[in-house]
Amino acid sequence: MRITLVAIVALMAYAVNAQANPSTINSKIDQLLSAMTLEEKAGQLNQYSGYEIVTGDIDQSKMDYRKTMVAKGLVGSVLNVLGTEDTLKAQRHAIEETRLGIPLLFAFDVIHGYRTIFPIPLAESASWDLEAIERSARIAAIEASAAGQNWTFAPMIDISRDPRWGRVMEGAGEDSYLGAQIAKARVRGFQGDDLSRSDTVAATAKHFVGYGEVVAGREYNNVDISRRKLWETHLPPFKAALDQGVSTFMNAFNEFEGVPSSANNYLIGDILRGQWGFDGVLVSDWDSFGAMATSGVTADDPGAAQMALEAGSDVDMESDVFVQYLPKLVREGRVDKALLDAAVRRVLRMKFELGLFDDPYKYIDAEREKRLILAPEHRQAARDMARKSIVLLKNDGKLLPISKEIKNLAVIGPLANDQYHMNGFWRGKGQAQDVVTLLDGIKAKVSEQTKVRFTEGSDLEQRNHKKLRKAVKLAKKSDLVILAVGEDADKTGESASRTNIKLYPAQQELIQAIYKTGTPVVMVLMNGRPLAIEWSAANLPAIVKGWFLGSETGNALADVLFGDYNPSGKLTMTVPRNVGQVPIFYNHKRVSRPFDATDRWNSKYIDQSNKPLYPFGFGLSYTEFAYSPVKLSTNNIDFDNTLTASVTVTNTGKRFGEEVVQLYIQDLVGSVVRPVKELKGFRKISLNAGESREISFEIGAKDLAFYTRDMSFKAEPGDFKLFIGSSSDDVQSADFKLTAN
Ligand code: NOJ
Repeated sequence: MRITLVAIVALMAYAVNAQANPSTINSKIDQLLSAMTLEEKAGQLNQYSGYEIVTGDIDQSKMDYRKTMVAKGLVGSVLNVLGTEDTLKAQRHAIEETRLGIPLLFAFDVIHGYRTIFPIPLAESASWDLEAIERSARIAAIEASAAGQNWTFAPMIDISRDPRWGRVMEGAGEDSYLGAQIAKARVRGFQGDDLSRSDTVAATAKHFVGYGEVVAGREYNNVDISRRKLWETHLPPFKAALDQGVSTFMNAFNEFEGVPSSANNYLIGDILRGQWGFDGVLVSDWDSFGAMATSGVTADDPGAAQMALEAGSDVDMESDVFVQYLPKLVREGRVDKALLDAAVRRVLRMKFELGLFDDPYKYIDAEREKRLILAPEHRQAARDMARKSIVLLKNDGKLLPISKEIKNLAVIGPLANDQYHMNGFWRGKGQAQDVVTLLDGIKAKVSEQTKVRFTEGSDLEQRNHKKLRKAVKLAKKSDLVILAVGEDADKTGESASRTNIKLYPAQQELIQAIYKTGTPVVMVLMNGRPLAIEWSAANLPAIVKGWFLGSETGNALADVLFGDYNPSGKLTMTVPRNVGQVPIFYNHKRVSRPFDATDRWNSKYIDQSNKPLYPFGFGLSYTEFAYSPVKLSTNNIDFDNTLTASVTVTNTGKRFGEEVVQLYIQDLVGSVVRPVKELKGFRKISLNAGESREISFEIGAKDLAFYTRDMSFKAEPGDFKLFIGSSSDDVQSADFKLTAN
């Protein structure tokens, strides 16, 4: 059927402001639905990728076919079509050439920045600074939306406890409570409080759900966890994102209880759409509908389309099965038309909410794109976020901060003058050329008299004897070495699982050779996952966890190394001693035979400590904080009242500093085995030298609730221990009781 201009005009006249009340939007959607063919409906659920960042097989020769599909109104959304020029072209196809002129959605993985690149999300989480994290997402949204995007596939809120899995870099670490707070902050940042504004984008809570549990940390592997673990550990951040009003969810690649997440009735039907009442868009992951036949839960693609739609998934990213088969399946009576309509309704509603029916071009503004991309204030915020993300792991003899007047400084390492890797994985539209390297940051920081000399020392992975010799020579004639080592950013992130989480041997050799020179060494670790750096932790005097910090890497690191910023980051993922301890996380459950060094028959390794190298919540500062004993307002509460737990934190050092005061609770007896401790609150505070502050937390029955033996979520009366301190392993404790009313 050829375009009828009359129809378009009539429909566009129905456009309503996104703030309009839902019933007005619904009646407009009804009118649209009644005008749509089955093919056009399936088309709204169809999502294709452009050309930029693809995370699966894509046949480039099919690009023309895809454009034709857009022009026929058989595509509802696209991903990886970026920038005002390209989004404008695509949107014009949709508006001007299709029968109904329904605008496209433009999606992209804006994970830690669009062009101004912020630290990888795992690094940002180490700031424990919710405002800064929100700002980071806000700026990412401002830049992305100025470049035509209106939908980000972020935040990734999978709880992850296995550093072999490359995607740990995308999340907020191992803890569900902290993960939930950070999920909210990111959703707030991306969406603001009005989705129809042209500088906000729809966020996506992904991947629903359990993906962080891929067996043995191997990417795209199966997941085999209990419902209890699902509810206790993996669902809380998703519920938090939902409560924050996240616009969309994304299916995970993994199965749960044998059924792919994309077609899992329990996950989608019972939990997401049922108990949680989510009526927004649920998008598949890349080809996750198409992959169902590969895993053998259905014989063919029509079967996959049917299963996915019937379970409650809406948008088909890249597998083509909805647009190919749904119309036929409905015509043959195999799929209920009402289900198709419901999914299309959700997609159209999202378009209304984003204001696209008011103005399909509202996000496409070349002037804004030019002005806002890499704006100085965005870079400033990226520097601030990067400084806050850095974790000081070791600082023997107060080697850090380094004096800016130092005479001979060697900067060594394959990552010391690197721009490319610093943007990390999922670098959006980030460009290597925008990155301030560590070397440049240092040069800009030190005094004019300081001689800064750089050499690589090794390749990232390959041994290079010549480079090594040069580095040793340089170290010998220097007062101090800053040694930047770590990972290849493309060996972190999606599809980058490792069985070995040590530094590459070439780099380990470099570290040991430099150490042997006797010149003091500050190791700056640049990575996307916890690395087992046992030798360095035992031997080097100073270690700074510098992650992949994005555009402002060098400036932020120099701020920390030379003391213009006092490090305040705290680990959000436990660092193991070796891969054999994995998965290792602080809030593990109690065991029936706890560790006892004097006895053989208990829960331990015979060749390694149970303890991690660095615990969750750990991170040093250039000053020291002393904690008073914990005071409780009462040590007996019932279900109707609360107690206040307080400590006085004193900055006993000589300089201003920030501290993350952490609250943990342990339920001593429960109807099911309970964790040794669980994070229940935190406060990031700043104190001048000598200053003290009392920090209080209020605790009531709701903070003590858990999934009891019958899976009801409630607190059980009994004895509790409460801990407050500076890491999960460095706490003061107090006891209290919860009594039945
Ligand atoms: C696959 C990833 O799992 C997902 O997180 C991402 O959003 C899509 N690819 C699109 O790039």
